[in-house]
Amino acid sequence: MPDDAVTMDKVVALCKRRGLIFPASEIYGGIANTYDYGHYGVLLKRNVVDAWWQAMIGDRDDIVALDSAIIQHPRTWEASGHLAGFTDPLVDCRTCKQRFRADHLDEEHDVRCPRKPSVLPGQGPECDLTEAREFNLMFETTIGPVQEAGSTVYLRPETAQGIFLNFKTVLGFARRKPPFGIAQVGKSFRNEITPGNFIFRTLEFEQMEMEFFVPPDEAQQWYKHWLEARMDWYESLGVRRDHLRLRAHEQDELSHYSSATSDVEYLYPIGWQELEGIANRGDFDLTQHAEHSGDKLEYFDQQSGERYVPHVIEPAAGLGRSVLALLCDAYDEDEIGGEKRTVLKLHPKMAPVKVAVLPLVRKDGQPELAREVRDALRGRMQTEYDEGGSIGRRYRRQDEIGTPYCVTIDHQSLDDRTVTVRDRDSLAQDRVAIAELPEWLEGRLAAPWRSPKLGDGQAAA
Ligand code: GAP
Repeated sequence: MPDDAVTMDKVVALCKRRGLIFPASEIYGGIANTYDYGHYGVLLKRNVVDAWWQAMIGDRDDIVALDSAIIQHPRTWEASGHLAGFTDPLVDCRTCKQRFRADHLDEEHDVRCPRKPSVLPGQGPECDLTEAREFNLMFETTIGPVQEAGSTVYLRPETAQGIFLNFKTVLGFARRKPPFGIAQVGKSFRNEITPGNFIFRTLEFEQMEMEFFVPPDEAQQWYKHWLEARMDWYESLGVRRDHLRLRAHEQDELSHYSSATSDVEYLYPIGWQELEGIANRGDFDLTQHAEHSGDKLEYFDQQSGERYVPHVIEPAAGLGRSVLALLCDAYDEDEIGGEKRTVLKLHPKMAPVKVAVLPLVRKDGQPELAREVRDALRGRMQTEYDEGGSIGRRYRRQDEIGTPYCVTIDHQSLDDRTVTVRDRDSLAQDRVAIAELPEWLEGRLAAPWRSPKLGDGQAAA
C-alpha cells in the first residue's frame, strides 16, 4: 500500500513513546522477544479480549467459557504430540555462538550472519555451523524443590489442550450437545529463537482459542462457518478488509492433527503474516487423550442412541498479533496547520481511551468544571483528564493513543455550560451542552464506523 505511512519501526517507536508496549527487563538490557504492556496497551488489549468474548459467548449460546491451568499433567503433551513433534530444526554457529532455524537460512527469512550482515549465516568466511538438530519449543520446569525424575512439567504451548482435557467435565455441567464450543483466553509459552518482529512472535503470548465440537459429518460446514465468522470479526474491529485474507495451508504445511487449516493473514508492514489459524482437527485430540488417559471422551446422543467422538473446528487467535494488526492498520500521519501529526485511527470501540477532558487553561474555574465533566463521563466510558501543557500538545498526545474525542472546557463553558468536542478523524468541533454530553458521546461511539484510511469506494467496516 504505497500511500500508507506505517512502518514497523514507527509503530514500535510510538508504542514506546506513549507507553503502550515496550521491551521487558529493560534495566537489565532487555530479554529477547519479550515485551511489557503499559496502561494504554493494557486497555487496548482488554478491548480486543472483550470483543472476542462478546463474539464467542455474548452473541451466541452454543459456546461456554473455560480458564484451565497453564501447567497440566505432563502426559498431556505426550498425547497431544507436542513432546515428540513440536520442534524446530536448529543449527548453532561455533564461531559467533548464535542459534538459527535451519529452515530459515534463506533470503526470504532475511536472517543475517551477526559478524557479516551482508551474508546469510553459514556463508561468511568464519561461519562454522553444526548439523541441524530438532529442538523442542516447550519450556520445561520442575514441580517440587528437587529436580528429580518424574517432576518435569511444561508451560503450555497452546491453550487448546486444557480444553480437550476438560471436554467430559464441561459436557457434564454445561448441558450442551454438539455442535457446541469451549472458549478460553490465556497465556501460552514457546521457546522461539526466530527474531520476533516486535510483538509478532514472542516467548510468552496470549491466545484466544475456541474448540468447537461437532458431529463428524458436520465438520466441513462448521469449518467454513468459522472461516467466514472470523474474517468478519476482524473487520468488525475496524481492520480494513483489503488488508485481510484467508490462506489455505498446502498439504505439506498441515500440522500433525489437522486435515484442513486456513490462516487469517494480515498485511503487516513486514508482509502478509498469520494472524489466526482455523483448523479442522478431526477427532485427533479427543482420541489421543482417551487412549492415553483410559477415559472415554465421546458423546452419547440419548435421542438417537448414537455414540461418537466429536470432530473439532478450532479458531486459534493470538492477542498480540491482533493488537499489532490494529496498531498497524490505524497508524497514520497527516498535517494540521502545517504541523505533522501522528495519529492512531482506531475503531472507537477499540480505542484505549474514549474521551479526554481538557480545560483550556489551568485557572478561572475551568479545571473544576472539567473535573465535574470527567466525573459525569467516567463509569460510562474510559475517560482521561489532562490539564498539563498547551492544548495543541494535549490533542497530539490523545491523537497518538487513538482517543476518538477530546472535550475542551473554555471560558464560554463557565457561562453557558457547553463544551467543545473535537473529533480525532474529521477534526470537526461541535458545541455540546454538558447535560447532554454523555448521551451525545455514547451515540457517537456506538455509530457505524469506517476507517478514514480506506480509499473512496472501498467497503466500510
Ligand atoms: N491451538 C492451535 C495453535 O496454537 P498456532 O497457529 O500455533 O495454533 C495460534 O497458534 C495463534 O497463536 C497464531 O495464529 C498466532 O496468532 C498466535 N501465536 C502463535 N505463536 C506465537 C508467538 N510465538 N508469539 C505471538 N503469537 C503467537
